[in-house]
Amino acid sequence: MTPIVNLKNLTKIYYKGDSEILTLDHVSLQIEPGEFIALMGPSGSGKTTLLNLLGGLDTPTDGEVDVCGQDLSVLSSRELARWRADHVGFVFQSFNLLPVLTARQNVELPLTLQPLSSQERRHHAEVALRIVGLEDRMDHRPSELSGGQEQRVAIARALACDPQLLLADEPTGDLDAKSAQDVMELLKRLNESLGKTIIIVTHDSHAAEFARRELHLEKGVMHMERKR
Ligand SMILES: Nc1ncnc2c1ncn2[C@@H]1O[C@H](COP(=O)(O)OP(=O)(O)OP(=O)(O)O)[C@@H](O)[C@H]1O
Ligand SMILES: [Mg+2]
Repeated sequence: MTPIVNLKNLTKIYYKGDSEILTLDHVSLQIEPGEFIALMGPSGSGKTTLLNLLGGLDTPTDGEVDVCGQDLSVLSSRELARWRADHVGFVFQSFNLLPVLTARQNVELPLTLQPLSSQERRHHAEVALRIVGLEDRMDHRPSELSGGQEQRVAIARALACDPQLLLADEPTGDLDAKSAQDVMELLKRLNESLGKTIIIVTHDSHAAEFARRELHLEKGVMHMERKR
């Protein structure tokens, strides 16, 4: 099988004033389609940096990033944005929903980049909200939802364009234990029944147990993995 993620000697250095911050140090990694990965490691170890590189939100200093069959290093920022809209869904710790929009409108937002009629957009958004179990909350604004529900709307938004890859940065970090469990069960279901490849960054070992492979970063070096 062709890997969905293929990293070779991926290196990221941030330059700040006179100092260089080596954030990822020759990371090589392959991820197969359909995997569910938990990326762990101490604060500052480079997890968010790695996730952003995988999703084409940032560019490497050196090395190769091949995702969904595309070498990301050859794309312009405009091409990257297009590629991202078609292939990757992002989920963030703080949900990042727009407060003035309803759940349905938030989920429709990324679909405006696709060649769809407003009716089709609405239909796709409703399907995604149904998948996350929020068909009865479509017209609620974020302030009228619980944290767990907000994160499920954010997951629906990530699913709206039917991406192969879901990238989630501490998706349960702002949730209570029960909502965190619900979100992890939802991600597991998306992995098992829709075949989505999922990579989550998490500090929570309980959340990580939902993944089938754990990767550990320390000071920018990938140094341990565990399979279950
Ligand atoms: N845009 C940036 N400019 C300069 N340095 C940065 C930038 N982004 C991240 N860094 C540095 O890179 C290192 C890794 O940051 P990163 O956000 O990837 O860590 P992390 O593993 O996600 O940590 P956390 O668990 O706290 O979220 C840190 O030392 C950070 O200060
Ligand atoms: Mg981070």
